[in-house]
Amino acid sequence: MADLQLTGAEPPVATDGVWLACIECGETFPPFEDVRYTCDDCEGLLEARYADLPTWEDFEGERNVWRYAAALPFEEGVSLPEGGTQLHDVPGLEAGTGLERLRVKHEGMNPTGSFKDRGMTVGVRVAKEVGVDRLACASTGNTSAALAAYGARGNMETLVLLPAGKVAAGKVAQASLHGARILEVDGNFDTCLDIVQDLAARGEVYLLNSLNPFRLEGQKTIGLEILEQFRDEEGAYPDRVVLPVGNAGNTAALYKCFRELVRSGALAEEEVPALTGVQAEGSAPMVEAIEHGWDHTERWEEVETKATAIRIGNPVNAPKALPGIRATGGTAVAVSDDAIQTAQRDLAEEGVGVEPASAASIAGLRTLRERGVVTADERVVCLTTGHLLKDPDAAVEAGSEPEPVPGDTEGVLAHLQG
Ligand code: F0G
Repeated sequence: MADLQLTGAEPPVATDGVWLACIECGETFPPFEDVRYTCDDCEGLLEARYADLPTWEDFEGERNVWRYAAALPFEEGVSLPEGGTQLHDVPGLEAGTGLERLRVKHEGMNPTGSFKDRGMTVGVRVAKEVGVDRLACASTGNTSAALAAYGARGNMETLVLLPAGKVAAGKVAQASLHGARILEVDGNFDTCLDIVQDLAARGEVYLLNSLNPFRLEGQKTIGLEILEQFRDEEGAYPDRVVLPVGNAGNTAALYKCFRELVRSGALAEEEVPALTGVQAEGSAPMVEAIEHGWDHTERWEEVETKATAIRIGNPVNAPKALPGIRATGGTAVAVSDDAIQTAQRDLAEEGVGVEPASAASIAGLRTLRERGVVTADERVVCLTTGHLLKDPDAAVEAGSEPEPVPGDTEGVLAHLQG
């Protein structure tokens, strides 16, 4: 069972108060001296650890990822810049769910249109520190778009492995224009990740999937922003954060954010929001693990959902994320593609344009309200992870049909009156 306790004891391998620790066996490693993504001894997942953990007073400057430098391994990164996303009011959805308060944190408003930018600004900075030159990832699309853009910004070569035919058009367009070398793999995302992990193990590439513990450091800032924004605007912290889950990197990152704040005394244990994960019915190994009380996930060989961003059968961060969901009093729920599409449309009606995977958070919240798991007195933040334009085909399918009209005003008027 993973040990996610944070300790203040700085091991000799630390550099400037930062080190890597294995969450399974506790072994510690130097952070930047050589490249490793998992434990040398037991292959457990690694986590970045710090001698000093910040409190709210340590964060300064504009609201973006680097405002939270005190919680990160560096003072600055390869930045576009990222973070500082909106926490929308959604009165229609709030009334529909009957919740005391519902806000939507729209991560689609990051530079490349998804939360992945928060991880890449840190990850590419670390890549420079480690001294590698070729960056790579497997991706359902958004990670590849972010890696391509941040790699370009950092003048580094990028290689992305995508499941052929299963990546939304906007994402491929981004990876392509930002200059990544795109390999379309005959297999699903999990196959892509297996291959890129092998390439990384052979020293061919530096891996920037969320298996890389530094990616998750950047993504912690979603949690920091949610807590600060919600507290400043609502006078208290939210009771629950609902988010779509694929590889469970974000879930792991948010839990780490909460653990660090509790450890530093910035957040009381009882103030930690309940982490609530949502998956598509056709790819829901995390939901299966939560329902069965497992401490691991079973790999789903066959996965299918129109929310292609979360079409993942082997969530590599499950050992970090499952304890997080449980320890915070959260849960995980699966939703149908139809429910996701309805939620995408309803968000759009409030002016919030998201890609299908993002709308899963709203669809999951609705299901949990119907089941009485989420109660009316809760203050909830739903995370929407990617922008509408990422997947134009899904948007057109969910939206209204264009109507052909003649090329003159009379004809247009006649059509409108008809
Ligand atoms: N939402 C969107 C829009 C995503 O792109 C992803 C993951 C997730 C949610 C799930 O996040 O993996 O941290 O649980 N996309 C990855 C990619 C896998 O390659 O872009 P997670």
